[in-house]
Parts: sequence; C-alpha cells; structure tokens
Amino acid sequence: MPKTALKHLAIIMDGNGRWAKKRGLSRTKGHEAGAEAIRDITTYCAAHTEIETATFYAFSTENWKRPKLEVEFLMKLLERYLKNELATYQEHGVRFKAIGCLDQFSKALQKCIAKTEELTKDNTNLTQILALNYGSRSEITSAVNKLMAEGKTSVSEEEISQALQTPYTDIDLLIRTSGEQRLSNFLLWQISYAEFAFTPTLWPDFSAEELDTIIHDFTQRSRRFGGL
Ligand code: IPE
Ligand code: IPE
Ligand code: MG
Repeated sequence: MPKTALKHLAIIMDGNGRWAKKRGLSRTKGHEAGAEAIRDITTYCAAHTEIETATFYAFSTENWKRPKLEVEFLMKLLERYLKNELATYQEHGVRFKAIGCLDQFSKALQKCIAKTEELTKDNTNLTQILALNYGSRSEITSAVNKLMAEGKTSVSEEEISQALQTPYTDIDLLIRTSGEQRLSNFLLWQISYAEFAFTPTLWPDFSAEELDTIIHDFTQRSRRFGGL
C-alpha cells in the first residue's frame, strides 16, 4: 500500500477545561498546561520530514462567548506563549503565522504576533499556524468579499482557495482531542478530503508519542479522493 502523504496537519486542541476540572484546578490552569503541550507537538512536526504545515485551533470566533475573565486570561496567555516560544521556533526552524480576525485583539497582542511572524519568517522546517479568533465561515466570507472588491462577478474554486487566509494547501489529517467529534467552524473549505482522527485524550495530556501512533494509523489508510 502506498504511503499516504502528510503535508498539512490540523489539530483542534480541546479539553483544557476538563483536564483542569479533573484535577480540582481552575480552568486557567488547564489553559496553561495546554499551552505547554503545543511545544512538543510542534517540535515533533518540525523534525518530521513530510509535514510542512501544522495548523492549531487556539481561539475560535465563538470563544468570545466565554466568561470575560477566561477570555482575558487567554489573551494574556497567548502573548506570554509567543514570547516564550520564540526560542523554540528559532531552535527548531519553525516559521510562525497567525490566521483569524486579529484586529479584534489588543494592539499589544497584534504587535507581538506581527513581531513573531517577522522574526521567524525565514525558518523552513515547519510552518506553525495558530488559528486565533478564527472561524471558517468568516474566513470564506472574507475571501469572497475580497474577490468581489476586485471586481469579480463569478469566482472559481481555485480563486477562493487562494483568497483564503490560510496559506492554501488541503488538510491531510485533522486531529481533535477530548473526545468531541465535531469541527466547531474550523477549516471547513480546506478539510474536504481530510482524514479525521478523534482521541479521548484531553489536550494537555496529548503527547508526541500519541501523535506518532495516529500518524502511523493515517499512513495505513487508503485515500481515494473519489477515484478507485
Ligand atoms: C480548548 O479547551 C481551548 C480553547 C477552546 C481556548 P477548552 O477550554 O474548550 O476545554 P473544555 O472543552 O472546556 O474541556
Ligand atoms: C473549539 O473548541 C475551539 C478551539 C479548540 C480553539 P471549543 O471547546 O470552543 O468547541 P465546542 O464549543 O466544544 O464546539
Ligand atoms: Mg472545549
């Protein structure tokens, strides 16, 4: 059986709150542990010869519905995370990129995101994309509006793909942790022919070892893309 190519991996990092609750901790502790867990997975992906892009869902356009204190904590954590991770990005050759409606974030956070993108732009082992204030319907709607603003009255699939914020390549494998089996408005366009893997592991407990097992299973699958 031919090996299945894995160029673009996407992960819905879910279960931070439940991880904390199980330990009698506040949800914020779960988010802190969750931020730590991203490092090993990113390092694994950077060392993996096939994976070019890893896109992580970190904050959805719907997550603003959460209590104000949790949202504020997540914003601060994100800034702290980016500053802390710079060394890891540089050491492992990781280019950082953010997608989502970033203009709803504080100026300080927007600056930190732009600076991290700039400082890591020449790294080539992996592109790590963080989806921040990201919603797939919003991304697709913006792409179509952008094309209409250019004067187009009819658009092709290819043009929509190129107008999306996500540097365009189809997702090969999508993983969601925490046992939930839904997409929660993540990469709907890019996921058309993705393989899915759902694991009950809560995100802070998700390890490079488990990722390796999931990837091994993925390589055994037969992707037909509608053919035979
Ligand atoms: C994922 O963990 C992180 C974010 C959505 C920011 P959750 O916070 O959704 O954790 P659960 O689903 O409540 O356990
Ligand atoms: C999806 O998780 C968003 C992120 C992981 C950032 P949620 O916990 O917000 O999704 P739902 O509410 O369970 O669908
Ligand atoms: Mg959740």
